[in-house]
Amino acid sequence: MLYLLDTANVKDIRRICDVYPIDGVTTNPTLISKEKTDFKELLMKIKDVLGLGKMIHVQTLGENSEDIVNEGEALNRFLGENAYAKIPVTPQGIKAIQILSQKGIKTTATAVFTPQQALIAARAGADFVAPYVNRLDNIVGDGVEIVSEIVREFKIYNLKTKVVAASFKNLEQIHKASQAGTHAVTVAPELFEKLLQHPLTDSSIKKFEEDWETIYGKDKLISDLI
Ligand code: E4P
Repeated sequence: MLYLLDTANVKDIRRICDVYPIDGVTTNPTLISKEKTDFKELLMKIKDVLGLGKMIHVQTLGENSEDIVNEGEALNRFLGENAYAKIPVTPQGIKAIQILSQKGIKTTATAVFTPQQALIAARAGADFVAPYVNRLDNIVGDGVEIVSEIVREFKIYNLKTKVVAASFKNLEQIHKASQAGTHAVTVAPELFEKLLQHPLTDSSIKKFEEDWETIYGKDKLISDLI
């Protein structure tokens, strides 16, 4: 499963990418606006911090297919082949996904809330679809179940489109989306860092250190002893 960060914050991206196996970043207009900075410079910084071969998903704003296609082409020119034009699943968005996909420009269908939206986007040639788990849960839907249905449909119809489950607010949602077989998750930095945390891990490490110290001394590493 691929791990992406759902953020446009360069500091967070740098800190997490330094440690974790991150496959890329997803942004949306809300996340970009939060940074209150020059858009072009921000994209370039994100690209630099991520390094070679990592995905950058950037959402388009156009309302008609022509504008969306222009935005997708601009992203592709500016960021290169790892740029994904993140396109909302409106009728004009679906038209744009077909055009961009025929031009070999990568796309992610976003704001997906139903399996049929995902299926249509996949048939249009989207590389990814992004179902919003927590926004569905918020209206007493079942976000993970929708992810699971989309994954199942893509398998049944042998579609190459991948699912990047999005909009998480807790670890349980991420865990269940992984169990449902999502190809990727995109997670906000503060939530992502919680994925590795466990009090039993901390207490286990502490006990190992204490036992080792009683015989070999404090801060002695294997490399100091052999
Ligand atoms: C999708 O990629 C969106 O950027 C995002 O996950 C939406 O999440 P939110 O519901 O936390 O805003």
